Amino acid sequence: MSSKIIAIDGPAGAGKSTAARRLADRLGFVLLDTGALYRAVALAARRAELDWADGDAVGALARELVADEALAMVRSDDGAMRVELRGEDVSAAIREREISSGASQVSAFGPVRDALLGLQRQIGHSGPGVVAEGRDMGTVVFPDATVKFFLTASLEVRAQRRFEELTERGKAVTLEDTRREVKQRDHNDSNRAVAPLKQAEDAILIDSTDVDLDGVVDDMLARVKARWGGA
Ligand code: DC
Repeated sequence: MSSKIIAIDGPAGAGKSTAARRLADRLGFVLLDTGALYRAVALAARRAELDWADGDAVGALARELVADEALAMVRSDDGAMRVELRGEDVSAAIREREISSGASQVSAFGPVRDALLGLQRQIGHSGPGVVAEGRDMGTVVFPDATVKFFLTASLEVRAQRRFEELTERGKAVTLEDTRREVKQRDHNDSNRAVAPLKQAEDAILIDSTDVDLDGVVDDMLARVKARWGGA
């Protein structure tokens, strides 16, 4: 059975995670948060005392984790997705600021990306449909996705959203530091040699700078339905 795949790419803080989750809920599709996989690899590398700049070593670790089926996305009873690393729930640990930076670093390496490619496709084809979000969903992982979105927003708005998310979680951060970190991640993710963040030619561009996320999700849903012709 071929799955319907909705690919959502875009920079950090554009609202991809929230939009993807709501879209998946409304369509009854599986949610694939690929950033969480890179984050889990960064966390595992840190625990193994590997250098995030050592792409070969981190790539070998990522291959081992995939071969051992040690990376898992599990749906909890309340519908939330949790990420497990060797059976341990690491959903909170992978959201730490340091791990955000580590994920951005390790994801620049071809061996790390290659190691996660098959796993992402496997999850993507595991149900009747999937909403996959990341940086290279429409360009590399699911080039034949049914519908592709590129969701973006101004740096100011993205930094503000990320700042609110972190302070809500009790993190002591300043807006200025958050802005700098988001900018740094944009730079890393967009300028790497392998699978850089970029809009697929056939992706629909949505700018959420002046639109709230409910509006974004409604817009996406309408476009998905139009693409399927009501099917
Ligand atoms: O979406 P996120 O912030 O959880 O992603 C964490 C990092 O992982 C991000 O800086 C870039 C990287 N990433 C990637 O390179 N490719 C993806 N498909 C998803 C995330």
